[in-house]
Amino acid sequence: MPKVDNHQFGVIGAGVMGQAVIRGLMRQQLVTVNNVWAAAKTEASCEKVRLELGIPCYTSYRDVVADVDVLLLCVKPNGIHSVLEKLKTYPLSPKTLIISIVAGATIEQMESTLGTKNPVIRAMTNTPCLVGQGMTAVCPGTHAKPEHLALAQKIFETVGVCMQLDEVHFDAVTGLSGSGPAYMYLIMEALADGGVRVGLPREAALQIVAQTLLGSATMVQQSGRHPASLRDDVTTPAGCTIGALLVMEDGKIRSTLARAVEEATLIAGELGKPKGKTKP
Ligand SMILES: NC(=O)c1ccc[n+]([C@@H]2O[C@H](COP(=O)([O-])OP(=O)(O)OC[C@H]3O[C@@H](n4cnc5c(N)ncnc54)[C@H](OP(=O)(O)O)[C@@H]3O)[C@@H](O)[C@H]2O)c1
Repeated sequence: MPKVDNHQFGVIGAGVMGQAVIRGLMRQQLVTVNNVWAAAKTEASCEKVRLELGIPCYTSYRDVVADVDVLLLCVKPNGIHSVLEKLKTYPLSPKTLIISIVAGATIEQMESTLGTKNPVIRAMTNTPCLVGQGMTAVCPGTHAKPEHLALAQKIFETVGVCMQLDEVHFDAVTGLSGSGPAYMYLIMEALADGGVRVGLPREAALQIVAQTLLGSATMVQQSGRHPASLRDDVTTPAGCTIGALLVMEDGKIRSTLARAVEEATLIAGELGKPKGKTKP
């Protein structure tokens, strides 16, 4: 496996996601204050990053970009074009691996805007990177070699699970796992409300729901069984579970969740377009 800890990292866009990746890599001690810097648009954000993460953070990174082995682009979709336009006028090494986690920004758009032969990897990750449980998909660009892909995979495996996928699937991944934590939080909140409705203290209800979700996800991952089969194990004839499941089916939970992913995927596809919507 390629080594990660002897590379110099730059992270352009030290917001929610940029920080989640940096913090995740720091937790695993694969990135230290000595081999990563970040960039944000405003000095206020930079100051916060310096204080909270203890790493250098710049509003202008022209002078530090030359030394970077891996450049992570974590700006909003409407900011990626101007960042790439800037980068092509900066002293960027042709060897620097550029990894973008920007929703909707295609490899073709990034490579043509940059106009260099730098290896580019498109990635889609999510906020649980912060706790080492991220889900990331990666796809290599035209000039990315197997070692670049392996390095990107190593980076994201450090903060969770990483799979290689064709770029055609990236809007779907954005709609499923990029936005996915928000769906899970909403579901957890609703289930905890149910617990509160039947008398559980809020804190206990939330803890019970979180552990139940974690346990169920681990069952799916470790057993390799289909969720419907695992669900059958819990569903005693004439028991309470089937009663609850029927109420959920009455509320069209299955198609509601599936259509929500479809909607997010459609919006993700618009994000990269020049005059597309800029919803997160
Ligand atoms: N949030 C998620 O759960 C999630 C999940 C998957 C993928 N993504 C993708 O991750 C990307 C970032 O999302 P986010 O939620 O982390 O956004 P965010 O919190 O708004 O962070 C964006 C960061 O980019 C900085 N920035 C903007 N323009 C810049 C420039 N020209 N140069 C340097 N820094 C600049 C901002 O600085 P200021 O703070 O100074 O404005 C901010 O720190 C998006 O493209 C999104 O599609 C997000």
